Amino acid sequence: MTFAGNPSSNRYEFGANWASFVDKHYSAERRQLAADKLLSFLGKQSLEGMDFLDIGSGSGLHSLAAFDAKADRIHSFDFDSLSVDTTGKLRKLAGNPPNWVVERGDVLDADYLETLGTWSLVYSWGVLHHTGAMWEAIENAAGKVAPGGLFFISLYSSNVVKPSAQFWLDVKRQYNAANPRQRWRMEYWYIWRFGLGRNPLRLPHLLKQIYEKKKGRGMSYMTDVRDWLGGWPMEFADDNAVIDFLKERFDFELVRISTGEACTEFLFRNPKGR
Ligand SMILES: C[S@@+](CC[C@H](N)C(=O)[O-])C[C@H]1O[C@@H](n2cnc3c(N)ncnc32)[C@H](O)[C@@H]1O
Repeated sequence: MTFAGNPSSNRYEFGANWASFVDKHYSAERRQLAADKLLSFLGKQSLEGMDFLDIGSGSGLHSLAAFDAKADRIHSFDFDSLSVDTTGKLRKLAGNPPNWVVERGDVLDADYLETLGTWSLVYSWGVLHHTGAMWEAIENAAGKVAPGGLFFISLYSSNVVKPSAQFWLDVKRQYNAANPRQRWRMEYWYIWRFGLGRNPLRLPHLLKQIYEKKKGRGMSYMTDVRDWLGGWPMEFADDNAVIDFLKERFDFELVRISTGEACTEFLFRNPKGR
C-alpha cells in the first residue's frame, strides 16, 4: 500500500520523530529514568555479565540505558537510517564505547540476523508490530536469545485497544497520507479527544499522563502521540497468543507481564541450557 502524501514509502518516518525527540528532549534525567525502568522490569540492579541486543533501537535511549546499566556488550540496529544516526548520536554522547555497535538492520532479514549470534538479553520495545510481518519478526527476534537468556518485548495489545483496532488503522492511514499541516491538526484532534476526553476540565489528567510518560521510560508525550498516529505498518497482538506462540515455538517461560497500556510488556526466559 502506498500513501498519497508519502509516495516514496509505505512506512512511517519513525527516525525523523526520534531525531526530533533527541534534539528537543534528551536530558540526563530522561537517561536515568530509562535505565531505572529497564532494570526495574528486569528485576536487576545492573546488566553486568549480560549482553544486550536492541532490535529497532529508535532514539537509542534504551541502548544508552543498557550502557549505563553496565551491559558487557551492546548491539543496536534499526531499519530506519535516521533512527540509526540518532542512536549513533547517543553512543557518541556515551564516549563512542567500543563495546557498543550501532548499525542499520532489518529484523525480517534472516541473513543479517544470522551474523549476530545469540544474546543474553534481547530487547525490542514497540518494534515487532511495526514490521509488516509481526509473527515472523517475533520468531526472528526470539531466535536471538541465548540459552538461559531473557527476551523483553512490548507489543500493541488487541486486548485493550479502544474504540477498535480498525479505527486506529484507519486513523494511521489518514495520518500517513496527510501533509504537515493536516498532521498537526490530527495531533491536536488526538489530544482533544483522547488526551482530554473532549473535556477541558480533564487537563490535570492530561498533565499527569505527560508526566507519567516521562517517568515511565523517559519518553515524551508528543513524540509518542506522533509515533502512535503515524506508526505504520501496524498490527495488534493478543497477549495470550504471544505467550502461547513463544511457549510452543521456543519453550520460553513468561517471567513478567505488564498489561493495561496500549503496549503490553513481556519478559520471557529461554530455559534451554539450565
Ligand atoms: C515505535 S519505535 C520504538 C523505538 C524504541 N525501541 C523505543 O522503545 O523507543 C519502532 C522502531 O522500530 C523500527 N523498525 C521498524 N521495522 C523494523 C525492522 N523491520 N527492523 C528493525 N527495526 C524496525 C522503526 O524504524 C522504529 O525506529
